[in-house]
Amino acid sequence: MESTFKIGIVGIGDISDVYFANLARYRDIVEVVACAGRRLDKAEAVAARHGVPRAYPDAQALLDDPEIDIVLNLAVPAAHAEINLAALEAGKHVYTEKPLAASYEESRRIIELARQKGLYVGSAPDTFLGGRLQTCRKLIDDGTLGDIVGASAFVVSHGHEWFHPNPDFFYQAGGGPLLDIGPYYVTALLSLLGPVRRCSAMASRAFDTRIIESEPRRGESIDVEVDTHITGNLEFASGAIGTLLTSFDVWDSELPRLEIYGTKGTLCLPDIDPTDGPNLFGGKVLLRTRDNYRWKGMPRQQPLSDWEEVPCEHPFTSTSHADNSRGIGLVDMALAIGEGREERASGRMALHAMELMEGLLTSAREHCFLELATDFERPAPLPVDFLQRG
Ligand SMILES: NC(=O)c1ccc[n+]([C@@H]2O[C@H](COP(=O)([O-])OP(=O)(O)OC[C@H]3O[C@@H](n4cnc5c(N)ncnc54)[C@H](O)[C@@H]3O)[C@@H](O)[C@H]2O)c1
Repeated sequence: MESTFKIGIVGIGDISDVYFANLARYRDIVEVVACAGRRLDKAEAVAARHGVPRAYPDAQALLDDPEIDIVLNLAVPAAHAEINLAALEAGKHVYTEKPLAASYEESRRIIELARQKGLYVGSAPDTFLGGRLQTCRKLIDDGTLGDIVGASAFVVSHGHEWFHPNPDFFYQAGGGPLLDIGPYYVTALLSLLGPVRRCSAMASRAFDTRIIESEPRRGESIDVEVDTHITGNLEFASGAIGTLLTSFDVWDSELPRLEIYGTKGTLCLPDIDPTDGPNLFGGKVLLRTRDNYRWKGMPRQQPLSDWEEVPCEHPFTSTSHADNSRGIGLVDMALAIGEGREERASGRMALHAMELMEGLLTSAREHCFLELATDFERPAPLPVDFLQRG
């Protein structure tokens, strides 16, 4: 590659530190040269802390910087569309935190504008590039599971007001469990099984207000504007059938995080550690095939310890929320621009995910099946030596 891609970060809140830290590891590919939030003094403090040369008072000032090639959008979901569209209008490639936008229509406009301008749009989550889901991908691709029959993904908790300092946006348009944490699980399924053809769902909201449990706003009440308990059915174009449960209304659960069912075996990504979900990069991959299957009666046949644990040969295996590999999707996108190929954490897959998630909410509201219009190719598997330095 001839030169590094210059990155400008818009949005310098809770998640930004991990991006600054991770991108600094790949300075020969991507170099963060500027950042902006909504106040210059904060942007200057963040820039100084991370050794970033320039700080701007707002997004537009950063977009006017001619040196920036790629805008990394880490603002709140409600601001994603405006910033992504403005960045594309300014001639910049975009990599955005999830969701691509707060609605499918906005997401569609972003992908269409990028197409017209010949620019790249990539989107988080990039956790499907982590060692755990790439191990699953290899097992699916090499036929270990046989034909895929179905899949289940479950992510339930009692909401993000327990850890986030400003949890309001999780209960506003673009938030809720389906659009906030759901993208990790939906993207995991899409990246493994390909596009969905039809979906249906039911949804509800147990609480109209939530009390903030985290500092510094502990005790404050926030309004809930979105559904917070959603169960969905997905019919993949391959014929596989998926079940999805996302909720902020559940005190606890022993469901696994994700399972894939094939004619020759099951893959189970269990919830052994509380942070052990497909919203992180690593974690155990358990396999059950005819070879280690013993009928022991219903409902639970064999203990988890009886499953075969598949060793992970792929990089990026952190199970920590604070120290993880967020940003490898952006680094891959920079390489993809240089190589003229599609990025793995692709805008097209994110658009399909958005159409699916909004489709689920529409199905729940209107009591109908939704046919999906968008399509994408499964992202290429990540080579085992990707970004590994000798
Ligand atoms: N916090 C997490 O654990 C986490 C994890 C993964 C992904 N994310 C995603 O990252 C994104 C940001 O989340 P966060 O937790 O860092 O939120 P946050 O509220 O802590 O920070 C958001 C930042 O965006 C800035 N911002 C908002 N509107 C803006 C605008 N119009 N122009 C410029 N800056 C603007 C805010 O000033 C703030 O600095 C969201 O899309 C979220 O879904 C968050």
